[in-house]
Amino acid sequence: MCEKNAWREEAKKKAASSAVKEVKKNFVVGLGSGSTVAYVIRDLGRRNSKEDLQISGIPTSHQALLLAVENRVPLTTLNENPKPDLMIDGADQIDKRINLIKGMGGALTREKIVAYASNKVIIVADETKLVEKLGVNHPLPIELLPIALPLVTLRIREMGGIPVLREAKQKVGPVVTDNNNFIVDAHFGAIDTPRELNLTLKEIPGVIETGLFIEIADTAYIGKPNTVQEINRKR
Ligand code: 5RP
Repeated sequence: MCEKNAWREEAKKKAASSAVKEVKKNFVVGLGSGSTVAYVIRDLGRRNSKEDLQISGIPTSHQALLLAVENRVPLTTLNENPKPDLMIDGADQIDKRINLIKGMGGALTREKIVAYASNKVIIVADETKLVEKLGVNHPLPIELLPIALPLVTLRIREMGGIPVLREAKQKVGPVVTDNNNFIVDAHFGAIDTPRELNLTLKEIPGVIETGLFIEIADTAYIGKPNTVQEINRKR
């Protein structure tokens, strides 16, 4: 790892460990996706075996599922546990009210479902994710049915955005999500009214979900070079 980014990995690890401290015996935990949550899942596995916590996890992606198996975190589903005690997830942008842009890992739809269902949602990230306003220098990921691609891209352009179909890195053609859909990364610039934008996008037929998570997260643990900052949503 390059020296320049070493502090970020440490910061992610510390944020992850702060979140995992909130897990109690018999908890059902929603497992988000991404490189910061990978630290969460490893920590959960360690605590589960050391302290006999008897937790179970609900994965939101193939990545989370494989990591949970590797780290011996027992799995469950929303069918068996429709109200998880806690969801721990990462984010791509986080504003002061803990509204989020998520989805650069392509798992936004399952993440939003499990987060919505959970009693408490904790976000873990390093401080580079904190922003004044969502959307500045960052696209908004949108998951859509492949057949709706022409309609969705046209509508985003009419709304003043720039849609970019997400391309796979080690396969030709578009990224196909765990739900067999496409992702469009829409560049809108600063998002002044995220709740309204989310609703407008969701009215387009074929849009499955957007990466705007508005008033879903309760707490964020933000890893910094020497500390972890806790932010709680005001209600
Ligand atoms: C996946 C996500 C991730 O939580 C988000 O991309 C953050 O990932 P990382 O912790 O690797 O920066 O939304 O859909």
